[in-house]
Amino acid sequence: DSKIEKLENLKSKKINCFSLELLPRITRAQSMDILSSQANLAGYKAVVEAFQVYERAIPMMMTAAGTIPAAKVLVVGAGVAGLQAIATAKRLGSQVEAFDVRPEVKEQVESLGAKFIEVDSNSDDGVGSGGYASETSEEYKAKQQELMKERVGKSDIVITTALIPNRPAPMLIPKSMVETMTPGSVIMDLASENGGNCELTQENEIVIHNGVLIDGNSNLPSTMAYHSSQLFSKNIEAIIDHCHSEEGFKLDKEDEIIDGMLFIENGEIRHQPTKESL
Ligand code: NAI
Repeated sequence: DSKIEKLENLKSKKINCFSLELLPRITRAQSMDILSSQANLAGYKAVVEAFQVYERAIPMMMTAAGTIPAAKVLVVGAGVAGLQAIATAKRLGSQVEAFDVRPEVKEQVESLGAKFIEVDSNSDDGVGSGGYASETSEEYKAKQQELMKERVGKSDIVITTALIPNRPAPMLIPKSMVETMTPGSVIMDLASENGGNCELTQENEIVIHNGVLIDGNSNLPSTMAYHSSQLFSKNIEAIIDHCHSEEGFKLDKEDEIIDGMLFIENGEIRHQPTKESL
């Protein structure tokens, strides 16, 4: 397919190639982190888009003509995008709850004023290396599905961002769960490029099922091109700076950042998961 063709093309040129999403998520590399700079914008815009198409009011309003309850937002996956989605949804007055497999996220979610939903489990289940998630056990998946079923059905807006490195996105919202939602509800699936967290998601398409709108836009940062480009170019500048010394441009493989990003070296793929999947 076209991805394999692109890889073969890069290999044939016998060049060195960085893959920017392989940058290690370490403090020293924060200024170079394109995943974070773009995910932060995507998390913000996901909420703005969802609120735009949702045909009801978001904040609680107590008026002489009656009370409107606050919209209920569920954020699944509280990484960079998810945390920004929580903050944005809170600012606009909705009632927010969030879920993640990594237990350390609880404190971050709560500090933003949202409720953290916990699966009762062994605390290592779903915790991968480098601060990332890993695939969860079957037992965990079953418990999570039970909880999700209860929460999704009560949510007006669901923002999903759950990803696992080098794996398809976990499928967390099956069609049957969407069918428990009230017509007019909205799902924004930010994991659409990797297969989606919702069974009905179609990448870069809007699907309407039983009146529930499922948006699979996989490039929300491009809707804020000025700022996404500004942050992206700052990241690239920091990477170039990092590889450059007085002796010129140097690929020091002893350096954790360069070693992590160097995806192809002299036409040879170094990234083990890509080698395996080829
Ligand atoms: P990501 O985009 O890979 O995944 C998004 C979120 O989905 C993660 O929080 C993950 O735990 C969660 N998730 C995965 N499977 C799930 C499931 N089955 N159910 C529910 N949630 C699930 O993550 P992102 O945003 O790229 O962050 C990855 C890590 O890197 C985090 O620990 C973050 O704090 C850390 N980080 C560190 C930085 C630094 O120090 N330089 C900069 C940015 C992020």
